[in-house]
Amino acid sequence: MTEGEKIRVMIVDDIIDTRDQLEKLLFFEKDIEVIAKASNGREAVALAKQHRPDVILMDINMPDMDGIAATEAIMTQDPSVQVIIMSVQGETDYLRRAMLAGAREFLTKPISADDLYKSIRHVYKLAATRPRTVAPSAGGPASAILGEAGSEGQIIAVFSPKGGVGTSSVAANLAVAIRQLTSKRVALVDANVIFGDLTVILNLRSDKTVIELAQRVDELDRDLLNDVLATHTSQIKVLLAPPDPQRGELVTSDHIRAILEAMKREFDYIVVDTPASFQDRSLAVLDMATRIVTLMTLEMHCIRNIKLFLEVADLLEYPPEKVMLVLNKASNRTGIRADDVEKNIQRKITMQIGDAAQDMTFSINQGVPLMIGKPTHQVARDIGALARELTVVARAAAAPGAGAVVAPADSGQKQGGLFSRLIKR
Ligand SMILES: Nc1ncnc2c1ncn2[C@@H]1O[C@H](COP(=O)(O)OP(=O)(O)OP(=O)(O)O)[C@@H](O)[C@H]1O
Ligand SMILES: [Mg+2]
Repeated sequence: MTEGEKIRVMIVDDIIDTRDQLEKLLFFEKDIEVIAKASNGREAVALAKQHRPDVILMDINMPDMDGIAATEAIMTQDPSVQVIIMSVQGETDYLRRAMLAGAREFLTKPISADDLYKSIRHVYKLAATRPRTVAPSAGGPASAILGEAGSEGQIIAVFSPKGGVGTSSVAANLAVAIRQLTSKRVALVDANVIFGDLTVILNLRSDKTVIELAQRVDELDRDLLNDVLATHTSQIKVLLAPPDPQRGELVTSDHIRAILEAMKREFDYIVVDTPASFQDRSLAVLDMATRIVTLMTLEMHCIRNIKLFLEVADLLEYPPEKVMLVLNKASNRTGIRADDVEKNIQRKITMQIGDAAQDMTFSINQGVPLMIGKPTHQVARDIGALARELTVVARAAAAPGAGAVVAPADSGQKQGGLFSRLIKR
């Protein structure tokens, strides 16, 4: 924001006292200006068109046209407007629907002044990272994602040699964070083809999954990818795992390689939720990755597996910069200190993601990633910082004249399982 420029806010609520209270709360904030007030959804749609606010504070339950329908209509006319939904506790189904309509953030009534200021500034900042756009033409935003030409995408594998440390949760939130940060073409792949979790974490249903791509591996092109990948409300495209494990078995490491190869041509960033194993499918992803976000927790058995994985990564000749060590559920209540771990494994922990305790589980149960449901949460900020780190390096690598910071390992034809690959050396 340049000096003197203000965040232009519209308040929409059918209760006059609520409108007035919100306006009073915002009155003394130098960088915020209330430019319009509406008492129902229909009025809001008309006033948004006339005044083009940056941020809209939107009540859900209103007569005539409710906040969800109004959000949908306003987002269609101006997709860059930031809508913050105001609801009362317990309206979880409404929240999900509001998110699908395009809302960026939620505030639960009664709203504290602090939360109000923080949310307005946060969504405004988010919008500032994207150009102000006009309404999408026929075909909509989903088809636009796969529409741009460009250089090859970066594959970011989120991986841990130990299950249950948060790989799927971090992968899903990271993909959303990269999309929010860059507005680029971002895909998320569930490489856990046997027990995939992304459908639950993102509350996404689709009758098309990785199976449809594996069956037509010789025809992988933009149209086929567009047809099979599900579109999440955050505008990331998601390749889901099949609902039944038996069908997942049909997907081989060769299929995974071919699919990622095709996706690199169509996306700028491909985040992969990678299974916690050294099976061929995982190795295919790790080999092809530009970077491996290696998740660990401060638990003895996880640290031991991390140590083993780092040794394997060396044996596989992954460059050290490719393997990025990230501490998840970081807390000082585990009895193990991060700096002691660094000394023990002789590796730096690049980033830390805090312990969201029950908030992460809550977000999974709701099917709303923390990056969307609670974007100001410290853990959402940590994942945002990780997204920044990954995209800065990717940009530097792509800059003309810059040597590749992390050369993707030769994705050629490395096959045959971990054991046979290591003894061949
Ligand atoms: N930063 C965090 N803070 C608190 N809890 C977290 C965090 N990250 C993940 N969790 C929790 O850890 C649990 C496991 O998460 P998740 O399913 O993402 O792990 P995973 O490594 O993908 O597991 P699996 O090996 O079963 O695939 C979930 O209950 C999730 O809510
Ligand atoms: Mg998982």
